[in-house]
Amino acid sequence: MKMSRRVEHLPPYLFAEISKKIAEKKAKGEDVVSFAIGDPDIPTPPHIIERLCQAARETANHHYPETEGLPKLRQAIAEWYQKRFGVTLDPDTEVLPLIGSKEGIAHISLCLIDYRDIALVPDPAYPVYAVSTILAGGSPHYFPLTERNDFLPDFDSIPAYALKGAKLLWINYPNNPTGAVADLDFFNKAVELARQHDFVVCHDGPYSEVAFDGYQPVSFMQADGAKEVGVEFHSLSKTYNMTGWRIGMVVGNADVIDALKRVKSNIDSGIPQAIQYAAIEALTGPQSCIPEHNAIYQKRRDLIIEVLNNIGLEARPPKASLYIWAKVPPDYNSVDFATDLLEKVGVVVTPGVGYGKQGEGYIRVSLTVPDAAVVKGLSRISAWRDPKRRLKAYL
Ligand SMILES: Cc1ncc(COP(=O)(O)O)c(C=O)c1O
Repeated sequence: MKMSRRVEHLPPYLFAEISKKIAEKKAKGEDVVSFAIGDPDIPTPPHIIERLCQAARETANHHYPETEGLPKLRQAIAEWYQKRFGVTLDPDTEVLPLIGSKEGIAHISLCLIDYRDIALVPDPAYPVYAVSTILAGGSPHYFPLTERNDFLPDFDSIPAYALKGAKLLWINYPNNPTGAVADLDFFNKAVELARQHDFVVCHDGPYSEVAFDGYQPVSFMQADGAKEVGVEFHSLSKTYNMTGWRIGMVVGNADVIDALKRVKSNIDSGIPQAIQYAAIEALTGPQSCIPEHNAIYQKRRDLIIEVLNNIGLEARPPKASLYIWAKVPPDYNSVDFATDLLEKVGVVVTPGVGYGKQGEGYIRVSLTVPDAAVVKGLSRISAWRDPKRRLKAYL
């Protein structure tokens, strides 16, 4: 059977490959500690689950939902943006719920990218930006995020032809995989660049609520004129530990949102309504779970940073996000090092090169691992170089 060239050329999804490797090890009875995937280990808060169960019992929620989501959900999203960022959104035209933000990120390229159009894509980055561009028939132009520039793009180094041909710029802060953050000044520059070159900015901000040491990330929508040039993807996945429920949103420019709504209405049939009611509860109910979760992640962050730096895997503590971006030891590339950790000590980390060429030389370590497994995993990582070196101090 012959598949389309589009599918033939599709690279395997990074995490599907990692999950396969973990499953193989587990099938052999080996114990594996995985720091690979950014999927919160902490359960969804009970009041959200309670609302979901209640809504699941109501017959009105057993039918096809509307693509644009419940008006009450759009209203709750708009109110959340107002409260959290001081951003005013029209719930009817500037808000669209998504089946997880990944779904919207994958489909937005169909709205903005024609054959051979350019999307400006960071390297390293969440892989879906480039893949959705390619699936829509376009070409990603990668711009580097380097440590020298605090993993922010140097817009001046993007060549003129790429800026001229670009239909879309992807940015993502707090950043996956580097853990870098951006301020309003940076977002204002992105708006200015979009105005100059007439492209759309898609900011992906699912980690805005996962932050440490009192730091509060800003939203792209707070930038002057953001709504004229772009949209922001957001998600309930990481804020409320709801990755499994699949619910997110896109907000901002009404024309872009209308285009995505039209595409989606031909592809999916909306988000199950019980999940929409759970999302309303999450957004409008008590928010104390957010600092509680962040305190747990922050403790893990500090422990992991200390141990990695102690054994020579240089890493800076991120101010936000669920990730630590650490340098691999000299003489290793990121895949060799990740493979070595898995084979020798049964620890899974993500090789940086999986996020793009510029990710070479790094691994990504996720904070979404239960405390006891963090300690076990760190002890094993310490023993990787020197089996005698057990982390007694941390046990
Ligand atoms: C940067 C980034 N964007 C989007 C997503 C997708 O999140 P979801 O589809 O669960 O909303 C992820 C998930 O890990 C991510 O890291």
